[in-house]
Amino acid sequence: MRIIRTIPELRAAVAESRKTGASVGLVPTMGAFHEGHLSLMRAARKANGLVVVSLFVNPTQFGANEDLGSYPRDEERDAAMAEAEGVDLLFAPDASEIYPEGFATSIHVSGLTDVLDGASRGALHFDGVATVVTKLLNIVTPDVAYFGQKDAQQVLVVRRLVRDLNLDVRIEACPIVRESDGLAMSSRNVYLDADARRQATALNRGLDDAAALAASGVRDAATLTGAVRRMLAHADIEPEYVELRDLDDLSPVTELDGEALLAVAARVGAARLIDNHILRSADPRGGA
Ligand code: PAF
Repeated sequence: MRIIRTIPELRAAVAESRKTGASVGLVPTMGAFHEGHLSLMRAARKANGLVVVSLFVNPTQFGANEDLGSYPRDEERDAAMAEAEGVDLLFAPDASEIYPEGFATSIHVSGLTDVLDGASRGALHFDGVATVVTKLLNIVTPDVAYFGQKDAQQVLVVRRLVRDLNLDVRIEACPIVRESDGLAMSSRNVYLDADARRQATALNRGLDDAAALAASGVRDAATLTGAVRRMLAHADIEPEYVELRDLDDLSPVTELDGEALLAVAARVGAARLIDNHILRSADPRGGA
């Protein structure tokens, strides 16, 4: 595996590999790898001749009071893990390579970014994500880019910018990877002390309760989100949001019919955590 720091070097390595007809898979990351990241690398490895992983803690997607300074960083460990997964190129640029002096452009995806994490973290979060992902897609020019479904809203934002800007790439969303007790894997789980780690399982347990209610025929969004809120309250967690939203445009869903995204965000101890389930109604009226 080669570690590459600059855009020209990365472009040259991709061009060289393209000559052999290899398809290119990109896994964009901010490092601090866990099984979730590794599952994306494996999916990319299985389907592509060249696998590029980007490792860049993108400063523009962190709010002023967020954890940019303390975000876990260990490039040596990450590089060893990526190499073990058969990654070909680890693109780990400095911030000045991505945002050189005078950088003045931002990508804003309207609508989708007004709700959930966009409302909670502020609009600049998804502008930062959309801008860096657009840059990474332009730099690497992958055939396929792999994202985790834990960041369900991020996946929708990326799909929309790819469509709106006619980028020639397929976006693949890979399933959430969970710890054995159901906690969704996240680089931010390292912020959890033992008590917070126990509390944090309430997010997935609440989502499971709501999924069971949906499977038993409950359609009312307030009842479904109420199940999550109840579980969180029991664990002494105040959610930032618990919402049932349309899977494509994130508009609010008041009555489940077919599939919808049940998303939750909450601060647990020192970590801000997000999780989601796709709920399926027992008997969709549209016959889905
Ligand atoms: O999901 C992440 O790790 C980041 O938001 C991404 C997609 C790498 C952009 O910085």
